[in-house]
Amino acid sequence: MAFELPDLPYAHDALAAGGMSQETLEFHHDIHHKAYVDNGNKLLEGSGHEGKSLEDIITATYQAGAVAQSGLFNNMSQLWNHNQFWEMMGPTGRQMPGELESRITEAFGSVDKFKDDFKAAGAGQFGSGWCWLVVDGDGSLKVTKTENGVNPLCFGQTALLGCDVWEHSYYIDFRNKRPAYLDNFLENLVNWENVAARLAAA
Ligand SMILES: [Fe+2]
Repeated sequence: MAFELPDLPYAHDALAAGGMSQETLEFHHDIHHKAYVDNGNKLLEGSGHEGKSLEDIITATYQAGAVAQSGLFNNMSQLWNHNQFWEMMGPTGRQMPGELESRITEAFGSVDKFKDDFKAAGAGQFGSGWCWLVVDGDGSLKVTKTENGVNPLCFGQTALLGCDVWEHSYYIDFRNKRPAYLDNFLENLVNWENVAARLAAA
């Protein structure tokens, strides 16, 4: 069965006060995310992966160490990445729950140090990609960065928070200023209650 573009979990203008405009969400969700869904579904036909979950297709098609990933992997992983990304932001959930704050402080020394590491990962990703807060296989929290559509599923990690650092995510609102976009993401857009729920389920 074909995959579908999920609706945003809020209105297109719901993040505008937090610095992500209605225009960005109209392009990013309605056009870019939809293209990953449509192209992914086309590439899925006849691939031998029909009927699998999105997560299973991603892990089955990821090629470790490859210079370039396949079109099927790229589109399916970007479909999944954006599904997570919308949920990880919101007009609500702006207060970091205590348990999450404790785990972040334990892992990074302080919430501010975590934010610095996360922003450095996103700013330091050369070209398109993502930066992440993950639970690694040994249960520890880590900040990582990945290129293009590659995501924590490829490394057996659980994604708690991810930020899209493809230009399409920030160029309308922040032009070329990726560090300012990353700073705003952490301060004004993250739904920390969603991040905490992912940690509790990990
Ligand atoms: Fe994106």
